[in-house]
Parts: sequence; C-alpha cells; structure tokens
Amino acid sequence: MSSERAGTGRGKLLLFGEHAAVYGHPACGLSLDSTMRVRIREIVPSRWRLPELDDGNRGMLGAFLESAEPLFPKELFRPGEISVESTIPVGMGFGSSAAWCAAFARAILGGSTDREMVWEKAHRAEEFFHGTPSGIDTGLAILNGLYAFTPSPPRLPGARPLEGFPMHFVVGAVPREGSTRTLVGDLRRRIESKDPEAKRLVEELGALSRSAIEILATGDSARIGEIGKLADEAQTLLDRLGLSTAALDTMIGIGRKNGALGGKLSGAGGGGAFYLLFEDLAGADRAYRAIADAVRNRIDRGETVLFRYSR
Ligand code: PMV
Repeated sequence: MSSERAGTGRGKLLLFGEHAAVYGHPACGLSLDSTMRVRIREIVPSRWRLPELDDGNRGMLGAFLESAEPLFPKELFRPGEISVESTIPVGMGFGSSAAWCAAFARAILGGSTDREMVWEKAHRAEEFFHGTPSGIDTGLAILNGLYAFTPSPPRLPGARPLEGFPMHFVVGAVPREGSTRTLVGDLRRRIESKDPEAKRLVEELGALSRSAIEILATGDSARIGEIGKLADEAQTLLDRLGLSTAALDTMIGIGRKNGALGGKLSGAGGGGAFYLLFEDLAGADRAYRAIADAVRNRIDRGETVLFRYSR
C-alpha cells in the first residue's frame, strides 16, 4: 500500500520595498492565485524519486533534499516519489522557489501544522536557493493575502495583513539579466563602500514603501492613485540604481501610455517581474491587449509572460 502526502504554496508579487527590505525597511506584497502543488508518494523500497524532472533539475532537487533533511523531524522526513504541478512561471520573480519550499514543507509536516511552523521550515529550506532570503516570499506563499513585512533577520519578518482595496494589475516578466543573489550582492558592495547615491536611493525606496503600506492599511479605495504614483516613483529610484532594463522600461512604458495609474519592476530587478496598476478591470484589459500585441513574438517564444490579476 502506498500513501501520499501533498502540500501547496502560492506565487507572489512584491509591490514595494524590494532591496530596501535588505536594509531593514518594510516591504509589502500579495499572494497570487497561481500555485505549486507537491505530492510525495511513498514507494517500496523507500527512496526519493523525481521521475518528472530532467537531469539538471533532478540534480538540483536532490541537493535540496539533502540540505532540507536536517530541518524536519526524522519520522516525518519519509522519502517517496515527488511530482509537481505548477501554474507559477519559474525563475521569473513570482516566488516559484519559495512556493516549492512552502509546498514541500506542508507535504512533509502535514496539513494540520500551524502556519508559523510551516513558514519557519519553508524559510530555512529556501536558504538552499537564496542564501539569505528575507522570508517575504515564503510568507506570501503560505499566508495568502496582502501583507506588510518588517524584516528582523535572522528571524522571520513580522507580517501584518493589510486591508487594501480592489486593485487590478497587468503583471508580467521579461528575461533576467542577473540573479537575485548577484543583484543584492552588487548593491551591498556599493552600500558598504559608502556610495552615497546608493545609500540615499535605498533610504528613499524604504520611505516610499512605508507610505504605500500606510495607504494600503487604510482600506480607502479613493487613494489608489497615490499607490500608482508611489509605484512610478519607486521605479525611477530602482532604475537609478541600475536595476531596471530596456525590456522592463518598454513594458512599463506601454502600460503607462494605456492608462496605468503607475507601474514598476517587482523583486530584485535586472529583468524579471513587473506590474502595472489600474483602477478598473476594463482599463487593465485594454493595457493587457496593447502590451500583448506589442510583444506577441516574445510571449509566443516563452521569453515573456503576461497576465492580469485582480484582488
Ligand atoms: O527576486 P525576488 O522576487 O525574490 O525578490 C527579492 C527581493 C529583495 O529585496 C531584492 C531581496 C530580499 O530578500 O528581500
């Protein structure tokens, strides 16, 4: 008889505070509808099997399993055949590695384990992929909603749910030119070498994130335009830090020309994810079509993803 355990984790969209969060500023983001589901089917003889993966990914996840083993109680860390179903674009800034860690931790720990415990384990497991993750991505993978996060390394960040209001997004991602690890490292070197411009820009990003969180906490939908303006201001600062790319600028530019209240990259930058904010669904639809028409070839080739998201 074989028994099966399963867990899910959500994708995320970081709204404000990327990079600033590394220096103690608050950040905010939301969980997406897209999910990753991990199933572990126990087999005889007992061992890990990853039949769906190609050799590269099998090797990587094999190393992940070795690093994760000490994090979990021995009696729960029972090997089996792993299968994964996911609607989260992988490696594009929507938190696929965090969702994997959350789904895996849930499958191992069991559905009745409390969320803080799952978050703690998923966060520790994510160190395998990111070295020193902030815990925001795994938080959004598990907590599900719109949250403000206050970093408190090496512990998990404080998480506060935000009331927010209806928001309509066009969300997308373009190819990455740098990894989160290298982009965070490059900025850290600039800050440590007392680059005054980098330090000032990060402080300003932190202040914008704080303002956005204050507005989102009010739940006052009349203030949605202010969120758009803050997104535009944050994008200017992220661009000055060298974190935007021509492809991101193009997408955000088309969105703004088509009625976005504002937009910015989301996550570490160097390509990757971005979002544009709209007051209503019809506006988001129009801009979605304009962007999709402009970059149809790149979407067809799988280099660019584009979708709408409303909350
Ligand atoms: O690249 P992402 O989406 O995982 O975002 C990273 C966010 C940073 O602030 C750049 C890093 C962090 O750990 O907070």
